Amino acid sequence: MDQHLIQTVNRLQDAFASLGGDSSIDLPQITVVGSQSSGKSSVLENIVGRDFLPRGTGIVTRRPLVLQLTNRRVDPERPTPIPDGVSLDEDESIDEWGEFLHLPGKKFYDFNKIRDEIVRETEKETGNNAGISSVPINLRIFSPNVLTLTLVDLPGLTKVPVGDQPKDIERLIKDMLLKFISKPNAIILSVTGANTDLANSDGLKLAREVDPEGTRTIGVLTKIDLMDKGTDVVDILAGRVIPLRYGYVPVINRGQNDIKANKRIKDALAYEAQFFENHPSYRAKAQYCGTPFLARKLNMILMHHIKATLPDIKTRIHSSLSKYQAELSQLGDDTLMGSPSNMVLNVITEFTNEYRTILDGNSQDLSTSE
Ligand code: GDP
Ligand code: NA
Ligand code: MG
Repeated sequence: MDQHLIQTVNRLQDAFASLGGDSSIDLPQITVVGSQSSGKSSVLENIVGRDFLPRGTGIVTRRPLVLQLTNRRVDPERPTPIPDGVSLDEDESIDEWGEFLHLPGKKFYDFNKIRDEIVRETEKETGNNAGISSVPINLRIFSPNVLTLTLVDLPGLTKVPVGDQPKDIERLIKDMLLKFISKPNAIILSVTGANTDLANSDGLKLAREVDPEGTRTIGVLTKIDLMDKGTDVVDILAGRVIPLRYGYVPVINRGQNDIKANKRIKDALAYEAQFFENHPSYRAKAQYCGTPFLARKLNMILMHHIKATLPDIKTRIHSSLSKYQAELSQLGDDTLMGSPSNMVLNVITEFTNEYRTILDGNSQDLSTSE
């Protein structure tokens, strides 16, 4: 995610937290839908930039995973001390960890262990024979590198029951997904494998049911690397097949062999960039392809959302201000410009500056990224 956006939004969140009360910015949930094995978990993992989700062939995601990313400010002047009993590998950091709601207080610095715990917790609820459950697993990730935001990974749409799945599996999963994507503040990542027919995309069909105007749906086309030679998704990208207001982004995730070989996200992203830059069909528009562009597009939608909530934020500031002024006049001393009043004024000044950044600065980003 874009570092500038992360800083701006998180400073706003901080400013509101210091005003007290129920004042935080309500950021949307990003929710993935699509057929089983279309690459939903892979896409989410690439957006977060860390390896921690179970992925693979067949039904792997069998419970909703509500993933709350939490930005954590770190002071470079005062490094976090490493507590007794914690040992960190080379690629781990004391400032980046995961915590499950069902295991309060236990910090996972090793993201592979987060994946193991998701698998264990899934099996605890659903057994190990393809059963599914609508009871979510709640995971929070704390990191200086993420935007405070919620992502939801969901089981894929299937038609034919396997293993312990009930006969009405299709209905069951559909209802589960609808519960998440019906929320007006859900941004829907509708994932379709490029090696399947878009007209049959279950993810798109479901997204249309709750968002017929396509105002909060982004199309993601995975597996571009697996398309037959001589075929491409150029017609879809140009909006000539099933147009979407926010359009489609083609991406390449790690394949099953890459997963077996533990290919790193960094290497996978480099391969993805190379692929689009060198492919005759995509070369000319390579900057609109791939995971980094998808992340920028998500930022753009988040910005639109923040702008839409600004009037509400302004109202809340005004009411906090008048409440504070009432308290001041009750004290009967308006020359009292000591610490508390100055603090509130400072927060609001800071907010106004940040507000301006969002309105002016990022509106430029918006127009160039579309
Ligand atoms: P989900 O079931 O929709 O969550 O899909 P997963 O993320 O678990 O991926 C399903 C399988 O497809 C895994 O074996 C992935 O490695 C593979 N896969 C996903 N995206 C791509 C892609 O863009 N290219 C290739 N080659 N394989 C992919
Ligand atoms: Na899968
Ligand atoms: Mg999955």
